[in-house]
Amino acid sequence: MVNIMKKRYFIGGAWPYANNSLHVGHLAALLPGDVIARFGRMNGWEVIYVSGSDTHGTPITERAKREKVTPASIAERYHKEFVADFNDMLFSYDLYTATYTDYHMNLVREYFKKIEEHGYLYETTEEQDYCESCGQFLSDREVEGRCPVCKKITRGDQCEFCMASFDSNALTEKRCRTCGSTPSRKKNKHLVFALSKFQKPIEEFSEKMAPNWRWNAVNETKKYLSQGLPDRVATRDLSWGIEVPKDGYESKRVYVWIEAVLGYMTAGTAVAEKKGIDFNEYMKQDGNLNAYYVHGKDNIPFHTVIFPALEMAINPEWALPTHIVSSEYINMKNEVTSEEEKMSKSVGNIITVRELADSFPADCVRFYMILNNPERRDTAFSKADLIQSCNKILSGGFGNFVNRNLSFIKKKFGGVVQKGNVDVEVQSHIRELYESMGKKYDAAELRSAAEDMVDLISYANKYYDEKKPWVQAKEEDLSAFWDTTATCLYMMVNMANLFAPIIPNGSAKLLEVLSIGEPKWSEATLPETFEIGEVPILYIRLEGQK
Ligand code: MF3
Ligand code: ZN
Repeated sequence: MVNIMKKRYFIGGAWPYANNSLHVGHLAALLPGDVIARFGRMNGWEVIYVSGSDTHGTPITERAKREKVTPASIAERYHKEFVADFNDMLFSYDLYTATYTDYHMNLVREYFKKIEEHGYLYETTEEQDYCESCGQFLSDREVEGRCPVCKKITRGDQCEFCMASFDSNALTEKRCRTCGSTPSRKKNKHLVFALSKFQKPIEEFSEKMAPNWRWNAVNETKKYLSQGLPDRVATRDLSWGIEVPKDGYESKRVYVWIEAVLGYMTAGTAVAEKKGIDFNEYMKQDGNLNAYYVHGKDNIPFHTVIFPALEMAINPEWALPTHIVSSEYINMKNEVTSEEEKMSKSVGNIITVRELADSFPADCVRFYMILNNPERRDTAFSKADLIQSCNKILSGGFGNFVNRNLSFIKKKFGGVVQKGNVDVEVQSHIRELYESMGKKYDAAELRSAAEDMVDLISYANKYYDEKKPWVQAKEEDLSAFWDTTATCLYMMVNMANLFAPIIPNGSAKLLEVLSIGEPKWSEATLPETFEIGEVPILYIRLEGQK
């Protein structure tokens, strides 16, 4: 049973195309989802956090064609790679699946039938280019010919030279890009999704949700809506993808964007099944559900317009996105000139998630990527900055605070902690942070939460420096020393909690030494006396540039 009195999170991370390795851009866009999921679980709330590999559509078939292998083998190769990448970056998905699974494909076909039953699919017939020798209809990008404006040979419906756009039928000397033969015109039928019917409902819903959405999502959605929502073709002439559940459509597949966004619902259903709860019940908006969709800005209209329209077309009881966590882009800082450059294959400055995972501890990467997240505007990435922020803040700040305290108690007192009183001012500061940082994690204001982390680390070190426990320990009456120690240990254990969504490994290590179990989103206190375990090195200093 779904406990509807309790707060619930549904978090959907965008499904990356399984046609190329993941890079820092993917990581910057997707990491917020994991931070929010961890925060939700720490509160004891119900969380369903899903994603998967987007394995259908032309990005994969084109790559397969170039490499002369099957689309399935490309999809499997990258899916495996993504799973390892996400694991190494400590992503805590409840399910990370792929769109080629039978589970997803079967459920999408059911949804597709629902859309049709509810009257939002209709058939159109249009003349389209057909290649006899390939035996298939050609999409715009599969035909080339002479541009009607500049007369150069280009492909599709927009000239790559003069940028003129036109109906692909306006091209002369048309050829099939695969085999070079001249296509003929032939009647072709398609199913169309009646997106235009959702203009009003999407306008109303997006206006209502705007306060919780990132500004770029609000803007992009307004722009998209102002042009008037066009109906969208829901089927494609492809052999790789999800078969269309309708007679006469055997040679066609469901358009990839429609089925990919529905992955949120298929994966969510699978997780709910495993938890023994009813997914449709879970997704009912009763005021206790936050539904986050986490992606890069190029994905916005698919999540703010097309996905919600599909939800309404399939099951109007499903909650619509409450939080659109759509990041801007991350650029690469040139390590030599310090100039910002767009990430691109031709410049050769793409850094893969694999490279990061093999070079740095996951916490360091996560911390840097959140502190430097392109939440409101583009930011720049550099390995030197990553190393510096890890050394200065995690190792030199947080790790050092833990180390100075614990090592001293080990050395002077054999690791046995005596009773002391926690400073009430520090205590109220920590309590306030559970409130304020909690609000930020919930609202996906993660940069600001990471900044609070930085502030707390320096607050704690400053406290230690001002109290000078190494001097207090020489006094005959040790009560001042044990008060300071109690206060520092109290800060430490609560830092482990407050930071856990961003740096789960370091937090877990610290909680273990202090004999506290899982991190929780509530004030932690330590026993009056106890013995500390092995003093951990939370973060080793990273060496120069690699
Ligand atoms: N595959 C798309 C991309 O990489 C994202 C799809 S998000 C989804 O841009 F949710 F629709 F799957
Ligand atoms: Zn051909």
